[in-house]
Amino acid sequence: MERKEALYEGKAKIIYATDNPNEYLVYYKDDATAGNGAKRGTIVGKGIMNNKMSAFFFDLLAKEGIAHHYISMPSDREMLVKKLTIIPLEVIIRNVAAGSLAKRLGLEEGVPMPFPVIEYCYKNDDLGDPMLNRYHIRAMKIATDAELDEIERMSLKINDILTKFLKSKKVDLIDFKLEFGRDADGKIILADEISPDNCRFWDSDTKEKLDKDRFRRDLGNVEDAYKEMLHRLTGEA
Ligand code: C5P
Repeated sequence: MERKEALYEGKAKIIYATDNPNEYLVYYKDDATAGNGAKRGTIVGKGIMNNKMSAFFFDLLAKEGIAHHYISMPSDREMLVKKLTIIPLEVIIRNVAAGSLAKRLGLEEGVPMPFPVIEYCYKNDDLGDPMLNRYHIRAMKIATDAELDEIERMSLKINDILTKFLKSKKVDLIDFKLEFGRDADGKIILADEISPDNCRFWDSDTKEKLDKDRFRRDLGNVEDAYKEMLHRLTGEA
């Protein structure tokens, strides 16, 4: 595999073309942003840890029949993935009230939701990723109803798999964000990453935050939280 030109640089990752027209190379950076770029910083080693955690979660999900874009990890910071057409939606699944949901609905952080709540946001930095409902998604032709049904089915199954697995590692899955794409046949495939950057992980006993909220909220011990999650998942010190 040969790395070719950079196609896109996001806040935490760079996407490169490769010599294979069906594959991209994702490079995981240590850069961290919050509030749609308003706060910027570095979490030392984050790129390596998020790459490893994402690979671990994709492997776990594949065993349960979830189609995803991950192919291999050519280096600590690089992930080879299937080329997809990304659907510009952030799919958020919430098991416990936290973050923007707690704020918007006046709920106390930590209050369990009676069932997983799914939200959609339009992936558009200029607009600040506004929230969408299924009518907006249909009107904007972002995805068809059949595709959204499949995205919701997969999201709820992913939530079940991750919640059960994480429980065995004494971690509560509070909420998380997924992204999906279409392959050449139009099949819906899980994309992006699964890491403390886009999931809220709380220690089951102490409720200590083991995710990017430590950076967003200046709670300190940011790197340690990522290291602890990697250790609980893979045993890596
Ligand atoms: O901020 P909010 O409470 O809406 O975030 C919900 C979940 O979605 C969190 O796990 C957060 O990490 C994730 N998220 C994300 N990227 C965004 C917005 C939220 O990964 N742009």
